[in-house]
Amino acid sequence: MSKKLTIGLIGFGCVGSGLYEVLNQSKLIDARIKSIVVKDPNKKRSIPQENFSFSRDVVLKDPEINLVVELIDDSEAAYEIVKSAIAAGKDVVTANKKLIAEHLSELLELTKKYGVSLLYEGAVAGSIPILRNLEEYYNNDSLSSIQGIVNGTTNYILTKSNEGIDYATALKDAQELGFAEANPTLDVQGYDSKFKLAILLKHTFGLEIDPKELLNIGIQNIRPQDVKFALEKGYRIKLLSRAEKIGNDVVGFVAPQFIDSTHFAYEVNNEFNAVIVEGLFSDKQLFIGKGAGSHPTASAVLSDISALKFDYKYEYRKSEDGDARFSQDFYLKVYAGSRYPEILDEIPFFSVDEVYQSKDYAYQTGWIHFEEFQQLDPNRRENLSLIVLPDNILSRKELEAVVTAAEESLEYA
Ligand code: HSE
Repeated sequence: MSKKLTIGLIGFGCVGSGLYEVLNQSKLIDARIKSIVVKDPNKKRSIPQENFSFSRDVVLKDPEINLVVELIDDSEAAYEIVKSAIAAGKDVVTANKKLIAEHLSELLELTKKYGVSLLYEGAVAGSIPILRNLEEYYNNDSLSSIQGIVNGTTNYILTKSNEGIDYATALKDAQELGFAEANPTLDVQGYDSKFKLAILLKHTFGLEIDPKELLNIGIQNIRPQDVKFALEKGYRIKLLSRAEKIGNDVVGFVAPQFIDSTHFAYEVNNEFNAVIVEGLFSDKQLFIGKGAGSHPTASAVLSDISALKFDYKYEYRKSEDGDARFSQDFYLKVYAGSRYPEILDEIPFFSVDEVYQSKDYAYQTGWIHFEEFQQLDPNRRENLSLIVLPDNILSRKELEAVVTAAEESLEYA
């Protein structure tokens, strides 16, 4: 039997107003929004003022409301709202990735205590139903990697840079189109992608990793010379969130990457997101969809609401069965570019492949240990672009074999 849902909606911004519209247009869902709570009584909105209340208690203290849909921007305020809603015995749907990435274990304890459900499909990759698939469809397949473009704003900016449009103009467009966060630093410096990666690590490998432990390199330092390097080699630059299993170890990070035309995400442009899941039996599978914007994100929220009619809960089975450990002991092949060649000499490469220097730009490529890469603290530097090359991630043993083979081929050349 399906449950009757009476919704308290908190937040009426880009996604909240989108949900209001899609819920009104969807003939299939029998769910009613009883109250809408917003913060600013003076803001002009798309529907008449009498639809709004200004105190969250209107929702939290109403016994008739059995589902709180939280769609505000401020993750600290969202944390308080979600905790109170759960403690009041209400199911919760949210699209707040920072909230979930930072507080999931505490919120799950609360949902168990109060016997309610917490769903957040809209928090990762907008309209792509990746969490439900990881929970249900891939429940019996041992997953070896998950990677993807999970931030629409940066993919939009990178796509436009290939078309010759400058960074500031593309970012402004992404803000006007409703893709960017209120603070777009979260998008361009890779924080938003990192919060989403933390959630994916939980649903893919059962790992709960504090986002502070995850490296995020953004796209803000990418220069036209880096884009030129990509075009010359037949690459595109994409901001990828990436996690993969090497033995029992799982490695994960967010960084810009050069990808070639064989990569599944090569043709994924503008605000579209892509998630590539690789399983032992299924091999690689690609999901594509709009990752940002009002209606696409609202469609994921709508799907969570619909699932709650049947009391759906995530089961987190990979957390119970998993034997994975998070590791930083691996090697990556990277490109480091700068206007100042002396900055490149500070990079602790394990081995260098290519060195280039012209009047106004220099770059080097080579293998680097991940921990040393992380210590470069790329988001605090202005004159260094770090971009991962398409080569595989290697363990120490694998890298030693690659370097020895390269040295031997030089000796015989
Ligand atoms: N700012 C986010 C993005 C919104 O650009 O992907 C969707 O989470």
